Amino acid sequence: MSADQNGVRSVPKGGMLYGEYLMLDPLLSCVEPVTRSLGKEVHDEHLFIITHQAYELWFKQILFELDSVRDLLNKKNVSESNMLVITSRLNRVVLILKLLVDQVSILETMTPLEFMEFRNYLSPASGFQSVQFRLLENKLGVKNELRVNYGKNHYINIFQDPKIINLIKKSEEEPSLCDLIQRWLERTPGLQEEDFNFWEQFKNVVTSMLNEQNKNAEAENDPSIREQMINDVKQKVKTFDTIFDETIHNGLITRGERRFSHKALQGALMISLYRDEPRFNQPFHVLTSLMDIDSLITKWRSNHVQMVLRMIGSHQMGTGGSAGYQYLRSTLSDRYKVFVDLFNLSTFLISKEYLPLLTPKMKKKLSTLTQKQDSDEE
Ligand code: HEM
Repeated sequence: MSADQNGVRSVPKGGMLYGEYLMLDPLLSCVEPVTRSLGKEVHDEHLFIITHQAYELWFKQILFELDSVRDLLNKKNVSESNMLVITSRLNRVVLILKLLVDQVSILETMTPLEFMEFRNYLSPASGFQSVQFRLLENKLGVKNELRVNYGKNHYINIFQDPKIINLIKKSEEEPSLCDLIQRWLERTPGLQEEDFNFWEQFKNVVTSMLNEQNKNAEAENDPSIREQMINDVKQKVKTFDTIFDETIHNGLITRGERRFSHKALQGALMISLYRDEPRFNQPFHVLTSLMDIDSLITKWRSNHVQMVLRMIGSHQMGTGGSAGYQYLRSTLSDRYKVFVDLFNLSTFLISKEYLPLLTPKMKKKLSTLTQKQDSDEE
């Protein structure tokens, strides 16, 4: 297969055969166990290489989908017709990640003894040097300052090639999926004061709901149950204050416990509460997929850590120079969850009986796709 000076392949006139189209010759020739070249082939190294290569191919596909979704979201207004594309591409990422989580078990069929036979030859190579994995984390929105340093090293120090360092830095600087989702959520219809003013209405109904619960608690005859009920309500008031009081919310962002802006959080809550309204159906699916993506990456991290424990135990350093199992275990924390606020929304959901009724105007707004909204797209 020939290519021009820009690396763009040329398509032969007579068409292509399967192997040519997929460039299988160069692709498959990349599976070359080091132990084979050294004349002391270890059978399982073949699987080890294929597994890593398959991961990298799927990472490439995920990045491709993420870039396209970020492009679609990086507009002043996101048209409803693009929402379907965004939803299906995010769902595709979810399905790929499911596959990647399951794939760990195939590599686990390798025994630690077999691994030991070739591990020394691959050092200092390590998944820690996977550029695509770092791009994926950054493009999703993993925050630099929330990362666990390995040894005393920042993750970027492992890379030496200036081109790669630039690529990773660029991925840190450009708007991540998390940033773009926030901008989109901040524009949720119904948040504006002159509109439905969801936040004011939500605060009012929560306040009366908690007052009612407090009254019920105080009316309880049994003193110990009464005390517990009153304390429960006090606790709920405190919890709701963390979203009603913007200063508390911003403090939690500084501590890395929340990520979303105050307005974006309101949008996400409104979509979750009114997800049955037609115009909120797709956005609700988007929020669900984002949580799935976060959960699945955490599951992958967890499966990978368990595999590492099985292969090298808990006290051996990784080939990349980290503390191995101990380092990887620390990456399971919520600091690596990008959409942590979406998970926490469940704390603030209220039952339908308390939900502020939509005004007829708002109901209409959420019921159909108007021509104006569709032409708003840039
Ligand atoms: C026998 C199997 C494996 C072992 C024993 C292993 C071991 C390790 C260790 C010890 C680290 C920590 C960095 C270091 O010091 O090297 C690491 C990081 C990593 N590994 Fe693996 N690994 C295995 C398979 C895989 C596979 C199949 C992938 C798929 C791409 C992978 C991707 C990664 C990534 C992305 C990191 C960086 C994680 C982070 O920093 O959060 N590993 N691995």
